[in-house]
Amino acid sequence: MSLDKRPTLWSSFMASNWSVLISILSIFVLAIIICLSYLLLGNSLDDFVGATKLTTAEIEKYNKRADARLAAAAQEANWDKVVDGIHVRTGFYADPNMPIVVSACTSCHSSKLVTQNRATRSGWEAMIRWMQATQGLPDLGANEPVILDYLAKYYAPKAAGRRANLNLDEVEWYILNVK
Ligand code: HEC
Repeated sequence: MSLDKRPTLWSSFMASNWSVLISILSIFVLAIIICLSYLLLGNSLDDFVGATKLTTAEIEKYNKRADARLAAAAQEANWDKVVDGIHVRTGFYADPNMPIVVSACTSCHSSKLVTQNRATRSGWEAMIRWMQATQGLPDLGANEPVILDYLAKYYAPKAAGRRANLNLDEVEWYILNVK
């Protein structure tokens, strides 16, 4: 009898220990699965949960960024736009050689500094020499004559910037009657 009973006790003891062990193991496995899935999905979960917690300041910030992106896209779309012979983005006169001038002359200062000036070809050359001597403008190489031709053509001195000086000998002077 005792020989029959022993294996039964043993096996039931073993059986109960195994079930505890298996429960503990499955809790561990579950915990590991949860940890792994958090590693995989955690960022997007945080984003998803965090997105509902945006403050108005943050929403404004994101809206501003979106506006900036739209503005940049609009500028990109108008990059080469020309209206009435004027390149909208830089204000330069549209011309096949204009891109050379834009790339050589707008990296340090606004194109306005160029377009608001008037000079002869040698006057422009003098300005380029001055920038090369004092402002770090590099040698323009084969582009220099192209740039000078462009500047001399479109930004030449204006014929009459102001009225001519009065010829004082020909002026008819009179006494102003103030009474
Ligand atoms: C390496 C930088 C640089 C580049 C490239 C450059 N410039 Fe300048 N330029 C300057 C600086 C700096 C000034 C002085 C700006 C100031 O006084 O505010 C200047 C001034 C000028 C002025 C005003 C001069 C004056 O007497 O008021 C004109 C016109 C000008 N640049 C034309 C050009 C042209 C045309 C090109 C292309 C060939 C060009 N720049 C490229 C740096 C540069």
